[in-house]
Amino acid sequence: MRTGASPPVTIDLEDLSLAEGAHLLIDRGLAGLRPGEQLEVTGADPALALMLGAWCREHGHRVAADGDGPPSSTHRLWITKGLKDDQRWSGATRAGSAALPSPHADPRWGLAARGALVEAGGPELDVRWVEKDLVWADIAPALYARAAAAQWDPATAVDWTASPGLPADVEDAVVQIMTYLVENEQAALMIPARLLGSLHPQFREVMQLLAAQVADEARHIEIFTRRALADRDQMGRSGAGGRASLQSLLGEPDFTLASFLLSVMGEGTFVDLLTFLHENAPDPVTAQVTRLAARDEARHVAFGVAHTAHVATEDPSFLARLRGAVERRHDVLRDSAGLSDDVYDSLVLLAAGSWEPAAIRRGWQAVQRLQERMDEGRRRRLAFIGFPEDEAAELSALHTQNFM
Ligand SMILES: [Fe+2]
Ligand SMILES: [Fe+2]
Repeated sequence: MRTGASPPVTIDLEDLSLAEGAHLLIDRGLAGLRPGEQLEVTGADPALALMLGAWCREHGHRVAADGDGPPSSTHRLWITKGLKDDQRWSGATRAGSAALPSPHADPRWGLAARGALVEAGGPELDVRWVEKDLVWADIAPALYARAAAAQWDPATAVDWTASPGLPADVEDAVVQIMTYLVENEQAALMIPARLLGSLHPQFREVMQLLAAQVADEARHIEIFTRRALADRDQMGRSGAGGRASLQSLLGEPDFTLASFLLSVMGEGTFVDLLTFLHENAPDPVTAQVTRLAARDEARHVAFGVAHTAHVATEDPSFLARLRGAVERRHDVLRDSAGLSDDVYDSLVLLAAGSWEPAAIRRGWQAVQRLQERMDEGRRRRLAFIGFPEDEAAELSALHTQNFM
């Protein structure tokens, strides 16, 4: 029975039943009302009164049927809006703003979309990185867009139809280098994957960028494996020193220190290595796979440098922690061989191009120059982050002999 003075809002459900979604129309009608105000509902579904009674009890509304007038096939009911729906959202908070990440991500926002209205209750998200400044770089959204646009298909980006057709010892050298690259790419995949699992999704662009980085490394593993097996059915060797070097990367738990050691120091050095391999490739497939990987790596380095610089700008004392990470890693690796002779000698042979003594000398010198370029690059990046030149030179010299 209709009560109250203000004119009611009316909706006609026609023959739509609550089992077919009639509550959408009722909710829509109630949305504009305050608690205590009434909604008039008419409908022809024979079960309307019964089902609306149950629905209203569940949602905290009261319902009354219009008993006046002659019986008819049309039901007329009055819903008085309750408090329950409003109360449900009264404790809700926004998960930051849609446009920009919040400086502090609340674990109670859970996996809610950034900027969503989050109902109170529900489980907290068990993640470690909830402070924006500890994971962010302003370049992350642009880098993610670039990464998404630059994804390539390993099946078509490389011309796999051409057989390398190299002399056996040159092919051996290529297989050895590819084996080494795959090992390093696997570390480069696992580290961002691990960071991703502890990152609050409020920092969406960093999450997306790291996911793209993981996908990049997956493709690098594929193309280097494929090149290694192009003319052989066995991979090359894995030296204990190289594995020790990568283990010391995997063991770094801090987001920024891991990003710094992997991307600024390791992947930065790898861009020079991949460029060298591209320039000295003895066959077109080796040239193609190293060029594709080097392009992706440049993005990984760009985020690592920008993020580390962001942290060091916010907190200049962080430079001492970066320094400590390089020194700790150097100490851990003090007694390990670093880069295996197999890999080093293979690089020399590729640069030499033949077994003539004069060619080997040129190859040896080319690998020396490569190491100088790697050192210059590291010093440049360290200086960009904020290290004085002499300290940048010292830290670059402490970088692992394994390059990554
Ligand atoms: Fe890679
Ligand atoms: Fe990478």
